[in-house]
Amino acid sequence: MKNKIITSSLIKLLAGKESQRTPIWFMRQAGRYLPEYRKIRKEAGSFLNICMDYNLATEITLQPAKRFDLDAVIVFSDILTIPMALDREVEFKEKEGPIINRITSLKEIRELECKKINFLEPVYKTIHKVKTEKPMNCALIGFSGAPFTLACYLLQGSGKEGFKKCVDFFRKEEDYFLKLLEKLEEFISIHLINQIKSGADVVQIFDSHAHIALANNKLREYCINPVRKIIKKVKNETEGAYIICFPRNIGSKYTEYIASLDLDGISLDHNINRKELIKNNNKEVCYQGNLSPETLVEGGKKMEEEVKSIISDFSKERHIFNLGHGVLKETNPDNILELIKIIRSLEK
Ligand code: CP3
Repeated sequence: MKNKIITSSLIKLLAGKESQRTPIWFMRQAGRYLPEYRKIRKEAGSFLNICMDYNLATEITLQPAKRFDLDAVIVFSDILTIPMALDREVEFKEKEGPIINRITSLKEIRELECKKINFLEPVYKTIHKVKTEKPMNCALIGFSGAPFTLACYLLQGSGKEGFKKCVDFFRKEEDYFLKLLEKLEEFISIHLINQIKSGADVVQIFDSHAHIALANNKLREYCINPVRKIIKKVKNETEGAYIICFPRNIGSKYTEYIASLDLDGISLDHNINRKELIKNNNKEVCYQGNLSPETLVEGGKKMEEEVKSIISDFSKERHIFNLGHGVLKETNPDNILELIKIIRSLEK
């Protein structure tokens, strides 16, 4: 793929080239803020039913690209499909978020195997189908959770209490925790390679809870090192796919993270200081981010000023416009239209 003429602005930037057009996409761009998603969701009954039905998942993946002038679509799925493939029960409860049949013994870690690899098949079928139906210049993004973030859910059983059960576990049983991360590395690598082989141009690794490792002085051991091994495997076994990493809320440690990994893109949350990061980072990388999802909800003048400030701060860098986290469900889709209009008007 790397020798072909690149038409996607997003891929051009990830490949180290220039683009007149600012690539734009949003984390959680398909979801509950869109009435067309809510309609399908209501008919399908549950979020998981949609993820497992590649026709519905394809339709939803493409919904945002039909409404907005976007440069990428992200396959509609979830990071918690991997725990399901590991034979853990996962339920998405309306107001509580995900509930997972959590790991409670060392034996369960020793015996952890990818028992239901077929379970992930709908993700690959969705990617295959989206590839044939998406707008030509829209890149197709696959994804996975990072080992640390998946371990947080597997040991806590939910997204609650600041993942206290996970923290207690890695403080007491570090060897087993590292063993768990190693197993996850293996499954995640397979999942990413399969997505790329099914047609994903880019994959994003979400380490949404990396700040918990950082707060325990374990960013390198729990987040950087496992992701390095995944990137190596994925790059060895595929040709020409690009990797974006999202170690959320690691503040000034972003520079160390970028310096340590062979990544193509780095996704920035909205809590970092952009100017500082650009000044302190001396490694070539494509940035992605970092408008606050709350600012997108608010819209209006504040959003316009913030968007202009982001575009200006990254004007000498390779930069993909995105949020610092996912689109919130109370977002008015018209604000996204407005945001894209602002960015496109700055390009002329
Ligand atoms: O549009 C896209 O970005 C692609 C689809 C996508 C979803 N989840 C769909 C989803 C992606 C990339 C994710 C990633 C994901 N899932 C992360 C990493 C990014 C982040 O948010 O930090 C995490 C931690 C999860 C786990 C997860 N899935 C939680 C905590 C929840 C419940 C909270 C919530 O927003 O409802 C989910 C459910 C989920 N994943 C929904 C969607 C559209 C809501 C489903 C619904 O109720 O209809």
